[in-house]
Amino acid sequence: MSVWKPYKEHDTIVIINFGGQYTHLISRRIRELNVYTEVIHHFQFNEDIINEVKPKAIILSGGPKSVYEENAPKIPYWVLDLNLPILGICYGHQLLAQMLGGIVKRGLGEYGRIKIKIIRRDIIFDGWNDEEDVWMSHGDYVAQAPKNSEVLAISKATGYIAAFKVMDKPIYGVQFHPEVVHTTKGRLLLEKFVKHVAACKPTWNIADIASKIIKKVKETIPENEKVLCAVSGGVDSTVTALVLKKAIGDRLVTVFVDHGLLREGEVDEVLRNLKSLGINPIFIDARERFLSRLRNVVDCEEKRRIIGEEFAKIFCEVTRNDPSIKWLAQGTTYPDVIESGAVPGADRIKSHHNVAGLPKWLNLKVIEPLKYLYKDEVRALALSLGVPWEIAYRHPFPGPGLAVRIIGEITEEKLEIARKAAKIVEEELRKAGLYYKVWQAFTVVGDDKWVGVKGDRRAVGYIVIVRIVESEDGMTADWSRIPYDVLEKISNRITSEIEKVTMVTYAITTKPPSTIEPC
Ligand code: XMP
Repeated sequence: MSVWKPYKEHDTIVIINFGGQYTHLISRRIRELNVYTEVIHHFQFNEDIINEVKPKAIILSGGPKSVYEENAPKIPYWVLDLNLPILGICYGHQLLAQMLGGIVKRGLGEYGRIKIKIIRRDIIFDGWNDEEDVWMSHGDYVAQAPKNSEVLAISKATGYIAAFKVMDKPIYGVQFHPEVVHTTKGRLLLEKFVKHVAACKPTWNIADIASKIIKKVKETIPENEKVLCAVSGGVDSTVTALVLKKAIGDRLVTVFVDHGLLREGEVDEVLRNLKSLGINPIFIDARERFLSRLRNVVDCEEKRRIIGEEFAKIFCEVTRNDPSIKWLAQGTTYPDVIESGAVPGADRIKSHHNVAGLPKWLNLKVIEPLKYLYKDEVRALALSLGVPWEIAYRHPFPGPGLAVRIIGEITEEKLEIARKAAKIVEEELRKAGLYYKVWQAFTVVGDDKWVGVKGDRRAVGYIVIVRIVESEDGMTADWSRIPYDVLEKISNRITSEIEKVTMVTYAITTKPPSTIEPC
């Protein structure tokens, strides 16, 4: 149940998502311009959204399909008659062209940095030179611009239409990706569209958001009701707890559960950090009950389900002792909502248990004050609430902990290896000054074995996979190009300090097609 719809107070741009790789990047770039965005899956888009959200403009994202394919995602024609500014990007550009009577065909394909020439000046190209570099990634192209439109820019090498505008309407298509940093003036184009064409007021400001969120929470929770918030030491749950504490004071009850799947030294570190912020959670040592239920379980989603259920049971037990607890606060953020399939039409990638896995019998109302924020916005909010930089920028750690970093059955032996190896990775990255430059760095242990030689003797040991990724929001990720000497040190230390390991590998697959965590 959502309890706060910030779009009511802010000019909003609706981004219709056709499954493009950069859709969330478009959204975050616009939020950086202090304008609120809502990403709506194309299946979900309908007239009610227009009536409820009242967008100031619509952006059509990129996407993997061809507009002329059967079942290609579309938008209804009435959208073009709303008199709202529309910007189509890549697939969105081709879709607009097709809907308005232009022709889209398979072309030569333009990938990467491409030079375009501006042939007709328009406000969206204010500040651009006659020739600029842009980022493109497309196989189809607009072979003929729509009737009643003018071509604003073309690719220098192919002559393909790079941008067009409908003559009498604020409807634009751009073949390139203004949201990608390699489009040199992309940010400027988005700013012109959002602030000038769509005339959005830049009111989305993280410093103000803190007080707005606190006010909303205060209004939502009745004075005789308490809220339970499970904290993990991560930035999302810490900020959630801080916001609630400021809103309802000691009607907030926090718990910190040790499920036996935490990293080395984590319990002490988290309790110390939280204490320094004035949060003193009830500490629950639940190692035995989680690990015994996970014995013999190999399936990932089953592990997640069990962990979610066990958390929920603990929450129930806490509320039994204090029946005035009527709410559960969760640190859900915007990408969690989308990846957990909580948005109709979006595919469930993984059931992050804080979004998709709460059992129905948990009779608590849910409040998710950060549900509309991206991770970088949560971090900015954390800093504005006085959270130290090291906590605000701590690497994300999944709620089910090491359970999702152990492939196959969770055993004490594999857990021990995962803990020790992760500590080594973290220490070496810190020494090399790389820890805060990457999104996440961890190790994975499965059941496969590798024959090794230790002290001139044959040794059959575990394989440890090191995964270090860079990402802006966890929705897409690239493996980090860590210098070889740092990787070498990591490998040497893992095999020499952890007896049962004979091989260390480095994961070099991006997300997509992989995900960040192995399960
Ligand atoms: P994946 O593995 O889906 O992860 O590419 C994307 C980001 O989400 C984190 N993650 C989780 N966080 N509960 C969480 O709180 C979970 O169940 C969960 N699973 C994945 C992951 O660490 C990465 O940052």
